[in-house]
Amino acid sequence: MSNEHNGWYNKIFSAAYDPFMSVVEKNALSGRRRALLGNLSGRVLELGCGTGINFEFYAAAAEVLAIEPSDAMRTQALDKLSREKFAARIRVEPWLLEDERLVAAYPAGSFDAVVCTLVLCTVPDPAATLALLYRQLKPGGKLIALEHVRAKSGLGQSVQNLMNPFWRHLAEGCQLNRDTHATIEAAGFHAVKSDEFDYGLLFIAGVYRA
Ligand SMILES: C[S@@+](CC[C@H](N)C(=O)[O-])C[C@H]1O[C@@H](n2cnc3c(N)ncnc32)[C@H](O)[C@@H]1O
Repeated sequence: MSNEHNGWYNKIFSAAYDPFMSVVEKNALSGRRRALLGNLSGRVLELGCGTGINFEFYAAAAEVLAIEPSDAMRTQALDKLSREKFAARIRVEPWLLEDERLVAAYPAGSFDAVVCTLVLCTVPDPAATLALLYRQLKPGGKLIALEHVRAKSGLGQSVQNLMNPFWRHLAEGCQLNRDTHATIEAAGFHAVKSDEFDYGLLFIAGVYRA
């Protein structure tokens, strides 16, 4: 996979990811992951699965294709798969969403649900990513999003805009100031349920339909 996802810093970032996230996971994210993912069924495409943090939350009715371009992240996800027993059938591949191997194996309209957790902050072009995800979904399929998003207040947005160039470099392309809910809706999805919560950053936890 490309160097963009596999430089020396990516190895450090990947190794630090789970320990760095452990407090926010415990206090704010893991309950929401469970609620959002636990009742998915059929074919599920998970974009950027990282260390495989979502795997434990899928039910047996889900058949998950998890794609992850970072070798260091994917190694942890595969290691988790080999060590732990998960309810769902889970396949991990190094593909990007636009990879022709994905489209060859799963043509447009193949998935019942797509899952984006803490990844639409990082992809280079979220609108293009969402258009591809829309294409991969069956008509009426679900998009699950658990993402940190742009602050509501002008002051919060100014702070995020100031910090963004540094944060992007520290956090492997992650951007603090994206209005992800609006980008999801602009891609043609409509919200079935969309909650916001604050944990230092504003987050959305949403279920959308194509
Ligand atoms: C911040 S991590 C989030 C990991 C996991 N989804 C979670 O909830 O903790 C973002 C992940 O997205 C992956 N990623 C970045 N750009 C991507 C792309 N274009 N396609 C798929 N995954 C991507 C990164 O390699 C990284 O593992």
